[in-house]
Order: sequence, then C-alpha cells, then structure tokens
Amino acid sequence: MKPNHYAISYIDEFGDIQDASFTHNEYHNLMELLFDKYLQEWGDCKGRAWCGTCHIQIIAGHTSSKISDDEKHTLSKLDSSNANSRLACQIPINAELHQMAFKVISENDYGSYK
Ligand code: FES
Repeated sequence: MKPNHYAISYIDEFGDIQDASFTHNEYHNLMELLFDKYLQEWGDCKGRAWCGTCHIQIIAGHTSSKISDDEKHTLSKLDSSNANSRLACQIPINAELHQMAFKVISENDYGSYK
C-alpha cells in the first residue's frame, strides 16, 4: 500500500535544512507547497515559469517531469542556474518527490551546499 503522507527536505535561503510534508493531491506543484507552508516572496508569476523566483536545485533524488521551453528560457537568464536547477512551479507534486532534497536559490543566498 502506498503511503498517504510524503516528505521532502530542502535547504532554505539561510542555509538551514528544513522538512516539508504533503499528502496526495494537496498541491499542484512544488512551488505551491513551499510557498504555502514555508516561504515568502516567492512565485511572482504565479507558476507560469516566467519570473525565476521559485528557482531550486535538486540535491538528492530525481523527478521525471520534463523541462519545458519556457522553463529552459527562464533558467538560462538566472546567474546561479546549473545542471540541477529547476523552477519549483514546474515540478508536479506526486509520490515521486518523496524523500527528495532541494536547495532554495535566492538573491540573498547564504546556503552552504556546493
Ligand atoms: S513562480 Fe515564476 S517561475 Fe515559478
């Protein structure tokens, strides 16, 4: 039987490791989850892949969600973007995310993950 509750970890904008949890069908995407429960001033374009404020990097795990042309274009404009970068608004929330880890990338980035 599949679990009803899922958990992810993320490194916040201050470099602290945080845990987040969600249930099946609770959110559409990772940006909604983190913005609703944990972060402020995120998601300026409301999930259209235009603003880049929901920039994250995957540090553990894998998502099969494909990168759209809009997401690719927005990521290409971000200085801190690398091969692990994604826009959280473009990552669907599903069981695949369980136990994945992310780093929130912000303009005031004090994170310690390299
Ligand atoms: S909310 Fe704007 S790019 Fe994700």
